[in-house]
Amino acid sequence: YMVDKGNHRHFMEKEIHEQPEVISHTLAHYLDFTNGTCRQLDLPFDFAAINRLAISACGTAYLAGLIGKYWFERHARLPVDIDIASEFRYREMPLSKDDAALFISQSGETADTLASLRYCRKAGMKIGAVVNVRESTIARESDVTLPTLAGPEIGVASTKAFTCQLSVLAALSVRAARARGAISAEQEKALVRQLSEAPRLATQVLKLDTEIEKLARELGKYKHVLYLGRDTNFPLAMEGALKLKEISYIHAEGYAAGELKHGPIALIDEKMPVIVIAPHDRIFEKTVSNMQEVAARGGKIILITDREGAARSTVDTLATIVLPDVPDIISPIIYALPIQMLAYYTAVFMGTDVDQPRNLAKSVTVE
Ligand code: G6P
Repeated sequence: YMVDKGNHRHFMEKEIHEQPEVISHTLAHYLDFTNGTCRQLDLPFDFAAINRLAISACGTAYLAGLIGKYWFERHARLPVDIDIASEFRYREMPLSKDDAALFISQSGETADTLASLRYCRKAGMKIGAVVNVRESTIARESDVTLPTLAGPEIGVASTKAFTCQLSVLAALSVRAARARGAISAEQEKALVRQLSEAPRLATQVLKLDTEIEKLARELGKYKHVLYLGRDTNFPLAMEGALKLKEISYIHAEGYAAGELKHGPIALIDEKMPVIVIAPHDRIFEKTVSNMQEVAARGGKIILITDREGAARSTVDTLATIVLPDVPDIISPIIYALPIQMLAYYTAVFMGTDVDQPRNLAKSVTVE
């Protein structure tokens, strides 16, 4: 199987740019855009009959699962337990054979995720696996494989596999919502229509590359970076920090914006850029007050939002990345792109080995 970089400098850049296409393929696998419905899936469990869904995964796949939790709980009123696979196995939580477990893994070979799967199998649970490699061990050992159609991902830092995992989880949450009677056929149709807009909006966001590259040259001057977000932008803040530390080796942390005052605020000074992921939603004003706390201490704010001038009147920002207005359900998919690009261009600026960062492996088969 030959995969080349085409006219891109790195696989990571190529994979970032493939996202509109692979998100579109993945969504089309789960959704029928013509009828505005979720496709029937041959699931070994009934979303209407389970009381909880246990999700576990590692790394970026875990952060996709965390966003999935917001979706399943919000749309389907289905409680979700989400764990880092290496914790899940040992924390001795009560498991019920009447509930289902979902494992997320690009490679389908991550040792801790596989061990968690076997642990749930022993408990008699029904098992689904969101994997990118369909002939992987995790796929083979699950009751149902829910594929991401991202194609081979070569860059060690996951990009397109992440947004495809999100696409699967978003579609599944709508499926679950319908099955559980939490939404009407009309609402399903509306959500499916909103999801169908993801590829087009992703294409639009990729055009911000020159602007983000310029900003990355600034970010590369700092030693520490803090990412903040609320709601689904909280896991995304952690993903932004993970991407940046993995490939640029700049120390980064992702925090829930509301937790700022409970710790990380102690670190804020003029040497600390703070990347705030905050679309103009119902909690935007809360995040504005967090930004004011950062600005008051000299922190440099980089705001990723959807409205030009959204916060400018109240807070001084170093830069604002303005994305198009996007429907709520696809917001995490679209907002993932600028944080990936920011990490990518910062790493390029730092001159690191972007596709093969030191000490990291694409697939971790040791525990
Ligand atoms: C490694 C990779 C990450 C990935 C994680 C989980 O740490 O560097 O990019 O998110 O493993 O991998 P998986 O294949 O299970 O998604």
